[in-house]
Amino acid sequence: MNGKGMKKGLTSYGDPGFSLFLRKAFIKSMGYSDDALERPIVGIANTFSDYNACHGNVPRLVEAVKRGVMLSGGLPMEFPTISIHESFAYPTSMFLRNLMAMDTEEMIRAQPMDAVVLVGGCDKTIPAQLMAAASAEVPAIVLPVGPMLVGHYQGEVLGACTDCRRLWADFRAGRLDEASVERVSERLAPTPGTCMVMGTASTMACLAEALGIALPGSAAIPATHADRLRCAEASGREAVRMAQHGPVPREVLTPAAFRNAQVVLQAIGGSTNGLVHLSAIAGRCGIDLNLAEFDRLGREVPVLVDLKPSGEHYMEHFHWAGGMPRLLRELAGLLDLTAPTVTGRPLADALACAEEVPGQDVIRTRADPLKPFGSMAVLFGNLAPRGAVIKQSAASDALTRHTGRAVVFESVEDLVARIDDPALDVTAEDVLVLRRAGPKGAPGMPEAGALPIPRKLARAGVKDMVRISDARMSGTAFGTVVLHVTPESAAGGPLALVRSGDRILLDVPARRLELLVDAAEMVRRERERPPEAVGPQRGYGALFQRSVLQADQGCDFDFLRPGGLPAG
Ligand code: FES
Repeated sequence: MNGKGMKKGLTSYGDPGFSLFLRKAFIKSMGYSDDALERPIVGIANTFSDYNACHGNVPRLVEAVKRGVMLSGGLPMEFPTISIHESFAYPTSMFLRNLMAMDTEEMIRAQPMDAVVLVGGCDKTIPAQLMAAASAEVPAIVLPVGPMLVGHYQGEVLGACTDCRRLWADFRAGRLDEASVERVSERLAPTPGTCMVMGTASTMACLAEALGIALPGSAAIPATHADRLRCAEASGREAVRMAQHGPVPREVLTPAAFRNAQVVLQAIGGSTNGLVHLSAIAGRCGIDLNLAEFDRLGREVPVLVDLKPSGEHYMEHFHWAGGMPRLLRELAGLLDLTAPTVTGRPLADALACAEEVPGQDVIRTRADPLKPFGSMAVLFGNLAPRGAVIKQSAASDALTRHTGRAVVFESVEDLVARIDDPALDVTAEDVLVLRRAGPKGAPGMPEAGALPIPRKLARAGVKDMVRISDARMSGTAFGTVVLHVTPESAAGGPLALVRSGDRILLDVPARRLELLVDAAEMVRRERERPPEAVGPQRGYGALFQRSVLQADQGCDFDFLRPGGLPAG
């Protein structure tokens, strides 16, 4: 029986009538009336967790979603899923993203609901929920928890986590003492909500809006504002309409929507993680994002949003400047405004509610952009046959064309052990290389790609160096950092062949990343390549090791893409 509401997805006892009878008997123990149980059901994925400070406002948001559902005549049903916080996930949150996506997808499918509101925020949560939604095919709307408000320290505005990194670098370099760094740790994340710079959480909230799967304006409203609760109520109302009339996520997540999202990713100075997640979500819809095309968009779409780490402001300023609707209006000529959204209306309607804010300088015009190029560039070359990514909007101009001597670290552990060794043979002109930090190698592709500047160089005033790895970096980080080298070193990639002392060429304007070693020597090294260590043999770790795809395919599991694994 594949009905609606309580009749949906009945537990299999071989007697559908009995299955419904039993289900009603149990749900009635919680006091529901027959009238309530006849309503359209809106599931609400609750990602509150004591381990997830970014989701501290989720209980109030869920309450507001429920109000919206009931005001529109639906029955809200809250259910828990995995919640992931960046700083509380070992070995790295990316290792768990696919597990959360599987949990969310299966619970949407297993429990009776006609639509679902996905309450997420911290970096991996919205990507996991969107991957789940694309696969579960139940009408879904994303409700971001919203960004934190900014902090203040000695007259300076600051926030998580661009300033966490900058101030920690100051501490490592001896420019900030221990007492100050302790005090500042109380000011960097002053409220619930997600990091208030254009990190991965903000990026994914903006992309959800650009994809048309979250309400207009929902990305940037601060987590603590009354408007955030009103947005939650409106999302609940919308979900009831969707429960009756759709659309299902695959009707919203179209090629046009993914192209719009790529334009926005370039224009907001978005996180490099956003590209990995977008590839994974598109993959669930049977769409392969083309990295060369994404790079081409970056030559056409300038960075317009002046937020850290590419610029100066924070998410609350973006909100007051008009947020995503205002940005989308600025990008109108580059977007497909006919793309459908969860509201049942085209993206063009989202632009209609854009607020004009006189004098605001956070959302720039295309005639006066923050950067003349997009957030990211995709590099190719003998070091990255399937591509590597650099956030050029947060790199040092002077280093984007650079040739230097490689200083190689074999793993994250090797990096930790040697980076601050006073005897390390390294200069500011060298290129720091980290390998075995990709999806399989680490495993989970940790955010270790922004290798710390060796302490002796930091103390001498060096603030940036060229760094190359198969790892990721936080969207809040900055510097001349080449990431996601694909294939990764632990999956046969040429990054494994680099030796300390080799010369490496980085040329961002020409999109090149080359190991300046002749081809015959590369072949010889390939023959001598030692076998990779055997990965985990049990549990989720074994599943991850066996199934994770490379960064250009979003690090999803192979069997979760449409069609799954080939038979046999
Ligand atoms: Fe949760 Fe930054 S740690 S969004």
